[in-house]
Amino acid sequence: MNRHLISAGDLSKDDALLILDTAEELAAVSERSIKKLPTLRGRTVVNLFFEDSTRTRISFEAAAKRLSADVINFSAKGSSVSKGESLKDTALTLEAMGADAVVIRHGASGAPHRLANWVRGSVVNAGDGTHEHPTQALLDAFSMRRRLGSLEGRKITIVGDVLHSRVARSNVLLLHTLGADVTLVAPPTLLPVSIDTWPCQVSYDLDAVLPKSDVVMMLRVQKERMNAAYFPSEREYSRRYGLDRDRFAKMPDDAIVMHPGPMNRGMEIAAEVADSPRSTIVEQVTNGVTIRMAVLYLLLGGESA
Ligand code: CP
Repeated sequence: MNRHLISAGDLSKDDALLILDTAEELAAVSERSIKKLPTLRGRTVVNLFFEDSTRTRISFEAAAKRLSADVINFSAKGSSVSKGESLKDTALTLEAMGADAVVIRHGASGAPHRLANWVRGSVVNAGDGTHEHPTQALLDAFSMRRRLGSLEGRKITIVGDVLHSRVARSNVLLLHTLGADVTLVAPPTLLPVSIDTWPCQVSYDLDAVLPKSDVVMMLRVQKERMNAAYFPSEREYSRRYGLDRDRFAKMPDDAIVMHPGPMNRGMEIAAEVADSPRSTIVEQVTNGVTIRMAVLYLLLGGESA
């Protein structure tokens, strides 16, 4: 494995399977009453968050603590970033405190890549702008594998705001590496211009794709990143691209529904679909801790659990 985890596209099939298999072994730790291993004792993990997060920030902290690492949580709000301190100077300050790994979420695509040039420790991308979120893709693949078995040849449909979604890009790259067959469904206005270069198919007709899907992953409509009108109205978006009860009924009986969270309930996904037994949304959060344990373990600790 590389020293850093910046893009899902940097993972070979062997790398990805090693992370998934290591997570499978570590999942047993999360099910014990004492959820702790001594593996990373004496190592320091810095969580550097310049953008809001609930799941990713908390799960990286829980993962590092379950492996007995020391954890420093940095949030841009309330830090010297408000006084104009640069990412480089912030990183060097944290480096001086002895960071072995820096987990970074940043609004600028490419920030983790820059950071990797400035620090000696491992850099883990926890979401950079509209670019990538590789540990989300890993936890999604892990969640799919736990429900469905091997992903080889599985039909995965990813629906919604692909244009603003780092989750979609990382998932397409990783799922392709793992041998899955990915279809993106979105309005033309919410697809990036470079979509032809992605290793997946594109459709505009959700109703046609649903009956052939093993997995349907709904994406959050990222209103906070929209500086223009990408669709006529929320109602219209929901009518064409939302996963409601009628559409859910068109999916095969054993197909699952995913969402990375946070959700706009009632817009991209109906509440009763999100809460159904075929939804993995809560499992994805649990699996996020396990996958991040595996990533930190393999970057800082060793080759196998
Ligand atoms: N899925 C995800 O990245 O969620 P958070 O923004 O809450 O971390």
